[in-house]
Amino acid sequence: TILIVDFGSQVTQLIARRVREAGVYCEIAPFNLAEAAFARLAPRGVILSGSPASVTAAGSPRAPMSLFAAGVPILGICYGQQTMTAQLGGQVEAGHGGEFGRAEIEVSEDCRLFEGLWDKGSRHQVWMSHGDRVTAFAPGFRVVATTAGAPFAVIADEARRYYGTQFHPEVVHTPDGARLIANFVRTVCGCTGQWNMAGYRDAKIADIRAEVGDGKVICGLSGGVDSAVAAVLIHAAIGDQLTCVFVDHGLMRQGEAEQVVSLFREHYHIPLVHVDAADMFLAGLAGVSDPEQKRKFIGGAFIDVFEAEARKIGGAKFLAQGTLYPDVIESVSFTGGPSVTIKSHHNVGGLPARMNMALVEPLRELFKDEVRRLGVELGLPPAFVGRHPFPGPGLAIRIPGEVTREACDTLRKADAIYLDEIRKAGLYDEIWQAFAVLLPVRTVGVMGDGRTYDKVCGLRAVTSVDGMTADVYPFESAFLSRCATRIVNEVPGINRVVYDYTSKPPGTIEWE
Ligand code: XMP
Repeated sequence: TILIVDFGSQVTQLIARRVREAGVYCEIAPFNLAEAAFARLAPRGVILSGSPASVTAAGSPRAPMSLFAAGVPILGICYGQQTMTAQLGGQVEAGHGGEFGRAEIEVSEDCRLFEGLWDKGSRHQVWMSHGDRVTAFAPGFRVVATTAGAPFAVIADEARRYYGTQFHPEVVHTPDGARLIANFVRTVCGCTGQWNMAGYRDAKIADIRAEVGDGKVICGLSGGVDSAVAAVLIHAAIGDQLTCVFVDHGLMRQGEAEQVVSLFREHYHIPLVHVDAADMFLAGLAGVSDPEQKRKFIGGAFIDVFEAEARKIGGAKFLAQGTLYPDVIESVSFTGGPSVTIKSHHNVGGLPARMNMALVEPLRELFKDEVRRLGVELGLPPAFVGRHPFPGPGLAIRIPGEVTREACDTLRKADAIYLDEIRKAGLYDEIWQAFAVLLPVRTVGVMGDGRTYDKVCGLRAVTSVDGMTADVYPFESAFLSRCATRIVNEVPGINRVVYDYTSKPPGTIEWE
């Protein structure tokens, strides 16, 4: 086991993911709970995360000093390197203007962290993102790699097996980063690397049993992959103590609601309540055009319906949700810390504090592709598990401006045509997520001899590994022309189609 101490970096979970990829179990604890987590887990090694904070600022977070007395290897990444340096007697300075983006690192000394990977004198690409930097290392440390902007790019204390990197090995822009983290957890810490998704499933099943006891659980199905995997996992843990509630908010894609109902009732024989709440959701969305207000309303209404269903079912103490890690990181950060809210995600931001059920969120640490592998491990049909992600607030956040029943119907038709063309072209599995949006803008067109004045449909398709960053999918123009022609011809109310060419960042995947 590896303990990851979180100082609030946006990419802490990527560290966890890399550790899992190396076949090693890990847990993340916020810095202020790290001491207790260490005692509970007795890990073979510790990784200190990055942070948006500055080590030089008063009151910025620190690792518990007891970690440095525990005798296990420590890897400090960026802020983690800096706080380790500051806490062990070295010096960190701000105001060097920062360093962001690609840098080339040169290995100046051999060390265990590089064993079998980087030789002395070799150069490698790494990803830097920091404002402060180490200016004098702590006693016992030496420099083992440098970059032009960071003379202390990697420091090492071999006797204590402490390492610090100024760059981020956890991100994909550091090509050897995953192997470096694997080296740390296996070669340096001595973890065996036997752990896998089946192990994760079994560990989670045990966790869920311990958490829930003989209590009843209600699981909210959203229609997407995540909540389905969560439900099947929980069912594997506690059987018919689980009841699934599918709140059909009327904001689903074409045919989706029917698919979910049949999968659960017919395939899995999991007890399922199907609540048709479309009228209520649409009424609540009337006149609302602010994206955050939409998200908050839908999240809140979802919980309301749940509470009502929970009361009907009677005695359910737990509410299960398929919240994934990217939903968590962009909504909140550890213990109210400093990462910035981009969007209030459906599963997290809308939760009213008054809700008197405990939350069970077994996928909270996972990225989408990991959830898919877990789904397959649980026997879900690969075609279902391979479906593109669909956000909790559904079509409401793909209709900028006011959401009406008519707009939803129009969008559903355009979206179905687009996805149909993507499937026919054999591109569905290459694309992370593809969908249509319906803009509240009307433009003039000409059809036959007549003037049209109708809405604009935007098409989006991205590739991604984890939803945190994304690239535009480069369709051939003939493909896009085909979609545009079909959509304008077959969907009343749309007379123009545009393709969204924005990557994430700076765009987000969804439009709202
Ligand atoms: P963004 O738009 O933030 O989306 O780049 C990243 C991924 O998350 C999905 N998404 C959501 N999923 N509840 C969810 O369950 C939400 O509120 C939500 N908002 C966005 C989005 O579809 C993409 O896959």
